[in-house]
Amino acid sequence: MEKKRMRRIGVLTSGGDAPGMNAAVRAVVRTCIQYGVTPIGIYRGYNGLINGDMEELNARSVNGITSKGGTMLYTARSPEFATPEGVKRAVDTCRYKGIDGIIAIGGDGTFRGARDLAENGINTVGIPGTIDNDIACSHYSIGFDTAANTAIEAIDKLADTMQSHERCSVVEVMGRGAGHLALYVGLAVGATAIITPEKPFDFETDVAEKIREGKYHGKHHHLIIVAEGTGKTEEIARNIRESTGMESRVTIIGHVQRGGSPSARDRCMASRMGHYAVCRLLDGESNIVVVYRDSHICHLPITEGLSMKKSLDDYMYQVAREIGI
Ligand code: F6P
Repeated sequence: MEKKRMRRIGVLTSGGDAPGMNAAVRAVVRTCIQYGVTPIGIYRGYNGLINGDMEELNARSVNGITSKGGTMLYTARSPEFATPEGVKRAVDTCRYKGIDGIIAIGGDGTFRGARDLAENGINTVGIPGTIDNDIACSHYSIGFDTAANTAIEAIDKLADTMQSHERCSVVEVMGRGAGHLALYVGLAVGATAIITPEKPFDFETDVAEKIREGKYHGKHHHLIIVAEGTGKTEEIARNIRESTGMESRVTIIGHVQRGGSPSARDRCMASRMGHYAVCRLLDGESNIVVVYRDSHICHLPITEGLSMKKSLDDYMYQVAREIGI
């Protein structure tokens, strides 16, 4: 297909950073250069678009960034951009700077911003980037794999000390309102129980009983993984002490999960999505989000993507429950 003539494409990262965002930025920059388009790095998310905080990048500007966590473009959540005045200012900046298209890497909030820009005449493509993997329209989002591995590495270390002291470790995993990261991590570390916002949970049957049964069968240490969105981490640890007599300790892994060198999966997925996003803009597409579905990178209209709902993987949850004994 003949490519659309575009002079300048801007790229930004918005919302919480995620390992692999840099690889996506690099792919956008290098693909632009391949097709004769000038890439513009927009700093600090949509704030940079409002304030004109941006610069022209070249192939060398993105040297060696694939192995780095975080985002070289910095990131922010922009309350101003959530207003019609903010969107208007951003559109004016795009026109003034001669930017024909924007590639926005982030989560649902980022996509809403991209949709608003598109509805005001700026071509946009969103790329899913969040460790939470809570973007309904895409089975994968950049950063999830690295964050899961970081959490797993930390929990494996916790398991050593829990086992030595015959304690129960109650570990809080990030994920905002969603339990995808907690479930994945919990299955990988062999958790006794995984508590997520999506699944109903009864302390007595889902935790206390299992700990008592474990004791009977010779299991003297436990890992309980709690998604931050439940808000129940401290309460669960306290209840374990009170109702089973087992010593428990709370560990909140926190922002450590968002950092670190991206995994191979995140680097490759981000590189492919970044390349794909530029090609779609050059094909004349706009107001779309790049998604990973059924092992393929493809795209959907942003509004359609935003209207979708994502549920927890029931089978994965069942497996984790049945083997976490
Ligand atoms: O969306 C990514 C995420 O790390 C969530 O898992 C977490 O709830 C949130 O961002 C934390 O945000 P902040 O960095 O603003 O504290």
